[in-house]
Amino acid sequence: MDEGIYIAIPPGAIIPGVLPKFKIYLLSPEGHYSLWALEGNKVTAKQLEKLTEGGLKEVYIDLEENFLYEEYLETNLSKILENQATSVDQKAAIFSKVSINVVRVAFEASFGQGTMGPEAIKRTERMIRNALEFLTETKSLQALSQMIGHDYKTYEHATKVLWFTVAFLRDNPAILGIIEPGYPDVDEIQKMELLRQCGVGALLHDIGKTFVSQDILNKNGPLTEIEWEIMKRHPLNSLAMLLTTDIPEFVKKAVLQHHEDFDGGGYPMQLRGLHISILARVLRIVDTFDAMTSRRPYKDSLPPRKAIEIMIGTPPSNNIGGYKTLEQDHRDQGMIQCFDEDLLRKFILFLGKTKLNE
Ligand SMILES: [Fe+2]
Repeated sequence: MDEGIYIAIPPGAIIPGVLPKFKIYLLSPEGHYSLWALEGNKVTAKQLEKLTEGGLKEVYIDLEENFLYEEYLETNLSKILENQATSVDQKAAIFSKVSINVVRVAFEASFGQGTMGPEAIKRTERMIRNALEFLTETKSLQALSQMIGHDYKTYEHATKVLWFTVAFLRDNPAILGIIEPGYPDVDEIQKMELLRQCGVGALLHDIGKTFVSQDILNKNGPLTEIEWEIMKRHPLNSLAMLLTTDIPEFVKKAVLQHHEDFDGGGYPMQLRGLHISILARVLRIVDTFDAMTSRRPYKDSLPPRKAIEIMIGTPPSNNIGGYKTLEQDHRDQGMIQCFDEDLLRKFILFLGKTKLNE
């Protein structure tokens, strides 16, 4: 059965008891492909165990069924990450494959077809693999998989915020210097580590939304006062989920403060100006920009230029400090008071020179 083109996938991508729609093949030492599981076959834990007993690292699928495999990964991503039997390497490979697709599709929707060239894809892959390894080391992988299982849209958004945050910070070493005094006079490994930690903060900033019901998260219209109160708890919930992990303190702080506004009108603590951590001030900008340029349940996506126009706009004076309405319906009246203007300027410069496909 050698006709066709086969591609290797890690056995850890197959969840015991969950039906894959695609066929699975094995490769013999003589180089022949043979059918192991038929379409719709229910793969049991025992069968899988037997298969991987001998240290088998790869099984194969027909290239023509690759789209079914990708669909399967997206649907089952949280289960794959929680599967104890799967190695960290395999999880990292699967997670980065799914996440790159998410980032690529989303960027193409916002910035046009072919936005991400091979180089950008490679860089993104490294970024995402790094983040997943770090999550494993710091015992916070479970928090991420809970979020993915609860609301896929939140995970999509988080992945893009990760991309923007790391790319922006890499382009602005002075900001990293504020996070870690002594930077950039540190070695390459320490530089990478710092970026990795910031990226993880970006990826995890909204995990507290796991405790917000889907009805509220995906509501098609403005939230009621009570719903809004529930929504506003998510930064605290995110922190609570990370409290017992080994994530660095400055990352936990940024997660807690990512909705604080520079003028003191944000939440949960109404911190003001430089009392808000620098990484939280960066996240406030990146998070808003990505939310506006993505499709939301209650609004179409905005072109990047229009989103920036709103972010640098001044709202009518009666709206200043009224973060409740600004956050929902009236954000298109101007949001400059939410941001550290110096950082926002740097972010706009970064967007101007970023060609995603380079
Ligand atoms: Fe948030």
